Amino acid sequence: MTQIDEQALATRAAFPEGFRWGVATASYQIEGASAEDGRTPSIWDTFARTPGKVYRGHTGDIACDHYHRYPEDVAIMRDLGVQTYRFSTAWPRVKPDGTGPTNQRGLDFYDRLTDALLAAGIDPMVTLYHWDLPQVLEDRGGWTNRETAYHFADYAAAVHARLGDRVRTWTTLNEPWCSAFLGYSSGDHAPGRTETPASFRAAHHLLLGHGLAVQALRAGGAREVSITVNLTHATPLDPSSSHDVDAATIVDGLHNRIFLDPLLRGRYPTDMLALTARFAGLDHIRPGDDAIIAAPIDLLGVNYYVPTILAAKVGTAPSTQFPGTEGVVFVPQDRPTTAMDWPIDASGLRDLLLRLGRDYPETPLMITENGAAFYDVVDGDRVNDADRIDFLRSHLLAAHEAIAAGVNLQGYLAWSLLDNFEWAYGYDKRFGLVHVDYTTQRRIPKESAHWFKEVIAANALDT
Ligand code: NOJ
Repeated sequence: MTQIDEQALATRAAFPEGFRWGVATASYQIEGASAEDGRTPSIWDTFARTPGKVYRGHTGDIACDHYHRYPEDVAIMRDLGVQTYRFSTAWPRVKPDGTGPTNQRGLDFYDRLTDALLAAGIDPMVTLYHWDLPQVLEDRGGWTNRETAYHFADYAAAVHARLGDRVRTWTTLNEPWCSAFLGYSSGDHAPGRTETPASFRAAHHLLLGHGLAVQALRAGGAREVSITVNLTHATPLDPSSSHDVDAATIVDGLHNRIFLDPLLRGRYPTDMLALTARFAGLDHIRPGDDAIIAAPIDLLGVNYYVPTILAAKVGTAPSTQFPGTEGVVFVPQDRPTTAMDWPIDASGLRDLLLRLGRDYPETPLMITENGAAFYDVVDGDRVNDADRIDFLRSHLLAAHEAIAAGVNLQGYLAWSLLDNFEWAYGYDKRFGLVHVDYTTQRRIPKESAHWFKEVIAANALDT
């Protein structure tokens, strides 16, 4: 249990000593240089070029041009005082054929970036998969093909072999829920497939790939290994209605437990195994997979944006595109929203952290993403984003409450350092602490960046 000074708490929320503050990004969202130094297309290059899939046909071809401008971006982070920078490596830069030979020129970029971060006193945290699967592997079935999990472990080993002497913290996957269900069931994300059975196979192979990558990283001597999941706090609209409770249990299962239980308890929860069997059969789950997936991790990364309120469907409202939720209504919430139309409710973060601390107490937690898109207005050299400051403040206070209640939360990384390519929304949604003018590539730290800098320096928030 973390010690909290009760008196100080009245005016200041002080975070524990050693709490890790930082920012996060992802390769396809910021790098650009999509055809440089041997990189081949990923599923997002293909998807973005498919008419109607991404807002106004935006692509990550140039993005924030971080591939060339990383020294400036590292300097901005140094000025912010961030201690940890979570970035992802692009599989098609490192293994242009998905498998086989490693492209050292692709790794050179991450080598330079790592050295620049260390020189600036920033701890690099590498995510190995933030959704940019080499297109050549999707052509062979992508995550529905069990082989992809083994190729992922080979790729992880290649990145670790190059950076492992300097990078302490390794994350295998970012948000496997999105890769499986948005990628293969709803089709909102690359590769844009709408085949429900495929999404369950993909979910399992992503977990298997995680477990195999953990083995490869450990074999290479990795010290701190993690996975990042996007969880939601699923609450029933009427807790006294068993139907609403069932609706919340299904969503909690599909979002949270279908990943958390195999990772941290060594088995799928019974209800999710039954759902998988119903939609996809169980042939793709082989004896021994459970043990591989449950290889111990040192840290669970939590991305949190939005809570959900669920009710049982009455009558014949339209069905959703997510398997198993045909009888569920996602209840609209009467709250202010971000530019993504996501309701703002920091109590969902507190409750989620408390639940993780209760149900999976052995695993230290880190918030690997939290933040908000708003329609920022640039005024000369200033971007006054008071609404983003409010968002971050309320979520940090929620995180602090969880710590005070005994949750082992070790750090907080804001999403995102820069405005960037927000997937199907293209450049329309801006999550950055730093504004990016996509015409000139000029960066302007927003007011939220200045505010975050003070929070980091104080390791505390005024309440
Ligand atoms: C989570 C994803 O990991 C990140 O790539 C995305 O930009 C944010 N959510 C905001 O939607």
